[in-house]
Amino acid sequence: MKFFIDTADLDEIRDALSMGVLDGVTTNPSLMARAGRKDTDKLLKEICDLVEGPVSGEVVALDAAGMIKEGKRLSGLSEHLVVKIPLTIDGLKATRALSDEGIPVNLTLCFTVSQALLAAKAGAAYVSPFVGRLDDISQDGMGLIEDIVEVYEKYEIGTEIIVASVRHPDHVVRAALLGADIATIPHKVIKQLVQHPLTDQGIAAFMKDWNKLQG
Ligand code: E4P
Repeated sequence: MKFFIDTADLDEIRDALSMGVLDGVTTNPSLMARAGRKDTDKLLKEICDLVEGPVSGEVVALDAAGMIKEGKRLSGLSEHLVVKIPLTIDGLKATRALSDEGIPVNLTLCFTVSQALLAAKAGAAYVSPFVGRLDDISQDGMGLIEDIVEVYEKYEIGTEIIVASVRHPDHVVRAALLGADIATIPHKVIKQLVQHPLTDQGIAAFMKDWNKLQG
């Protein structure tokens, strides 16, 4: 399973890159706002220059024509740029038009299997089901991933599933067990993935014994 980082913060991206675990990046308008940079195209270009893998930059237009125009502009920023589009009727139209021109699209804000099926039909390279936001309203986020994986496998669909809205390490582990292609993970959760109290206790014990030996 590939690991993407879900952030527009360059320091977080650099940190994950230096850990050697990063395959790509996803951003959205809220993450852009959190990064506090108004020159968003420049920021996306800087992210693409840092990361060798796919970088999703989201359109803010809500109509198909606007999405297509914005998607083409974003796509021109870098060969790594993936155009992120909300999963609406206009979003499907824009996805078909952009993917027909060879521009990869990540259809985002996916909450049902039917939306994921439509994403594949429209030619999306990626679909992003949001597990955390479903859990937040007492629905089964990982159950949705299980169902999409099953349907995509049944029809040998090539659209890659990005498990998004990840809240904790267990989302990542369950995504891997289900065979999802990608998890896009906040920086905080990437760091949580490596932590275990027995690892810390083991290091402390090794150091204590080593220091005793040294006198
Ligand atoms: C995915 O691409 C989105 O950027 C992200 O995962 C949304 O997560 P949130 O529900 O934590 O905002």
